[in-house]
Amino acid sequence: MADLRLFYALWPDDEVRDALHKLQTFTPGRLTYYENLHVTLAFLGHQPEENLPVLKDVLTSLPCGEIVMNIDRLGYFRKNRIAWAGMHTVPEALVALQAILTRNLEEHGVVFDKQNRFKPHVTLARDAAEPIDSPFEPIAWRLTQVALMQSTQSASKLTYRALATHTLI
Ligand code: 2AM
Repeated sequence: MADLRLFYALWPDDEVRDALHKLQTFTPGRLTYYENLHVTLAFLGHQPEENLPVLKDVLTSLPCGEIVMNIDRLGYFRKNRIAWAGMHTVPEALVALQAILTRNLEEHGVVFDKQNRFKPHVTLARDAAEPIDSPFEPIAWRLTQVALMQSTQSASKLTYRALATHTLI
């Protein structure tokens, strides 16, 4: 069976996506495609296709509830030259949701690179310069669902596709 490159993500609705896209004005670099803008909850890397049922079960067993992310800052991962949008204050409920997700994956024996600290962000540009310091209207992003995403690279185009979703509210 084939390997799939997978991750769990928070996907914005069109209104939030438009607002995030506008922030890309301040992030010179290789801009993330409009349709790819998202927040990664957990990056799984390559997984055997036969893991899909368990990965979908982990997704649908996540707790529900309202979470609003207040996107109010631009940041820069200097080492990776990534310009991003994120939050000064990450909602506790989001931290808890991500912790439950990674714990459940571990309990199900899913092998993935559990990064040390959850730093929720939307990658706006890669190979980027530091974002231009500009005030902007914070974006209230009300989370509606978590998605299990597949990433494919073909002819230099990176495509993300939802394999399963879990409704939060
Ligand atoms: P990002 O969250 O900083 O944009 C799919 O590749 C998504 O998983 C991207 O959003 C990517 O980075 C995130 N991701 C997290 N860790 C990764 C890793 N080690 N390699 C590739 N992508 C990773």
